[in-house]
Amino acid sequence: MLSRFRVALFACAAAGSLCAASAPAAEPLRPWMNQSLSADERATLVVKQLTEDEKLGLVFGYFATDADWKNNFKAPREGRYGSAGYIPGIDRLGIPPQWQTDAGIGVATQGAAPQKRERTALPSGIATAATWNPDIAFKGGEMIGAEARASGFNVMLAGGVNLARDPRNGRNFEYGGEDPLLAGTIVGSEIAGIQSNHIISTNKHYALNDLETGRKGHDARIDPAAARMSDLLAFQFAIERGDPGSVMCSYNRVNGDYACENQWILNDVLKRDWGYRGYVMSDWGATHSAVKAALGGLDQESGWPFDDAAFFGPALKAAIGSGQVPQARLDDMAQRILRSMFTNGLVDDPVPASAPIDFVADEAVSQADAEQAIVLLKNEGNLLPLGPDVRSIVVIGGHADKGVLAGSGSSLVYPRGGNAVPGIQPTSWPGPVIYYPSSPMAAIQALAPQARVTFVDGSDPAAAAAAAKAADVAIVVATQWSGEGFDVAMSLDGNQDALIDAVASANPRTAVVLETNAGVTMPWAAKVPAILEAWYPGRAGGKAIANVLTGKVNPSGHLPVTFAASESQLPRPVRPGGNKEEEAFPLPYTEGAAVGYKWFDKNDLQPLFPFGHGLSYTRFSFANPAAHANSDGSVSVSFMISNIGSSRGMDVGQVYVMPPAAGWEAPKRLAAFQKVDLAPGETKTVSVTVDPRLLATFDEASHQWRIVPGNYHFLVGDTSRGILPAAEINLPELTLPASWRPGPAAAAQAPQHGERGR
Ligand code: BGC
Repeated sequence: MLSRFRVALFACAAAGSLCAASAPAAEPLRPWMNQSLSADERATLVVKQLTEDEKLGLVFGYFATDADWKNNFKAPREGRYGSAGYIPGIDRLGIPPQWQTDAGIGVATQGAAPQKRERTALPSGIATAATWNPDIAFKGGEMIGAEARASGFNVMLAGGVNLARDPRNGRNFEYGGEDPLLAGTIVGSEIAGIQSNHIISTNKHYALNDLETGRKGHDARIDPAAARMSDLLAFQFAIERGDPGSVMCSYNRVNGDYACENQWILNDVLKRDWGYRGYVMSDWGATHSAVKAALGGLDQESGWPFDDAAFFGPALKAAIGSGQVPQARLDDMAQRILRSMFTNGLVDDPVPASAPIDFVADEAVSQADAEQAIVLLKNEGNLLPLGPDVRSIVVIGGHADKGVLAGSGSSLVYPRGGNAVPGIQPTSWPGPVIYYPSSPMAAIQALAPQARVTFVDGSDPAAAAAAAKAADVAIVVATQWSGEGFDVAMSLDGNQDALIDAVASANPRTAVVLETNAGVTMPWAAKVPAILEAWYPGRAGGKAIANVLTGKVNPSGHLPVTFAASESQLPRPVRPGGNKEEEAFPLPYTEGAAVGYKWFDKNDLQPLFPFGHGLSYTRFSFANPAAHANSDGSVSVSFMISNIGSSRGMDVGQVYVMPPAAGWEAPKRLAAFQKVDLAPGETKTVSVTVDPRLLATFDEASHQWRIVPGNYHFLVGDTSRGILPAAEINLPELTLPASWRPGPAAAAQAPQHGERGR
């Protein structure tokens, strides 16, 4: 900055006294580079300099991968090879290009690119939500954001927070589960971690893109107030916590209009009510108009040539020329994009084209996430952890001799070392099917040197059963592959149910490890004493699984989604549509805000495993719940949690709130949570703050959050079901504007990054 002032003064000195006389004109050449100005001021200064074509350049993004399927599109040379997107910079003003990469578990490479960028994959998003640990989420975001930066990217298309309304949604693995508070907290923390690298993260896919079937045409129909208390609330929490530079609008329609030209969700809710100052970018192929989209709140069209026309190219230029779109609206788009670039450091701290990456350290971050994400669903007779007395272990199925499964689609991160199991169909979009080279079997053997560990591939249930019979313990690794652009059955792939049944019949000491998108049916559950949900556990998943199986790590994951016993329990027992992303059909979300456990509670349904559930090798107890109301409408809840077992472990203290009378979407809501690390015999007092919006319902007519007066119950425990101790408190009537957000006082009370367990 200073050097630019100096250049101007030297130029004057050289020009002699004439120049000196006009010394006040010695303004910095680029005043927007003055870091003491606010991001808004800096953006405004740039916008003033921009030609109309430069503004239009900022709002129009290109796909950065060659696309044979779209008129042989050739990616702009300046884009980063094989990546999702590129927006040219404005060199004359010192504004860098925007180099965009997917996604939420690491730096992806587009499937169409022959050479892959090999990077570190975190566990799936739903796995990170299962940690219930915002600190882990932040660290994961920090790691993948650093790899993005070191790979030349300054925009990361991460932050997926679509609620898991349906376990069959093929992209549940990219998101944060079914609860708005948990999902928003975890995903918001990841966004903050990514952006700590001076790059932008998105928050996506806004909104209600909760099924892949018909994602490009289905119309998510939902009562607006219910949306505010469910899917929109998850985004709201994530945005408040993570402050993403951009929000990506989704493919689907919401109450009639496409999300990327939807006045209600973009202008009214996001920009007006929530005061969002960043920019809205479209998903790749989600822009459908110039005028309606521009007026509806879209700020940047992404990924040309995915859309049918270059709407924010010539069409937008013409619409501005004719006055259909005011010039001020184009200025606002440019202002928002530039503001986020300044806010997040893209201008002051430009990304290098490439930089070294410490893959060993990054893999450790991924492993730490997986170790807290794995959920011990069942452990009858303490079959786990595997003790030193176990002399023979047969590991069956799931390619566990080679690696762990990954979810596919645009978020797929290609691993160093390549695909551990190449050749599984489909090998191209929506695949490939990738296994990360982290073998659970090898890791088990390393931790159990006293035991003979063998592998059987599981393709022949009878052979697997025979091997199980001959071993002390059988471990079946079972998988459900999922990806983008399609939905999945709520079950394991192929004949794995029969395999597990046969193995468990042959050896009662059978443990099942699941690598799945979300919940699946488990017809064998009663027969199998131990079940672990490992999700897609990421680059070091094999080690994490082995560490939990052997007790080197005490499991502490808890379900961020309800595991239904059968599809008949779901709001839509039959998944709507065929299984094509282009289908168009109405998709009424009649369950409204009663998503997941709320639906199960409301309808008194017994799930297979409830939301919040997760066992440990030690035991915990909860006591002394107390609640008091704060002046801003929030409620502070405290309780004691004790480790009453014999090993160190972490538990997730969960607070659920019940209203004084019917009127909520469900009998109770998750109100707050905190993960706690406890030595045997140790007790800690936990204090959390409940956001008043979780005590309220949204009232469309008055455009307010409303807390009804009466007695509220705050239940504490480590699951959403069971008998939980409760504190009761009387709250007065209170209304809060739709624009309410936690003030500094509430934020100070709220557990911050770094204070919520390890
Ligand atoms: C996905 C987005 C992704 C984009 C760019 C779309 O198909 O829905 O999540 O960021 O592609 O690859």
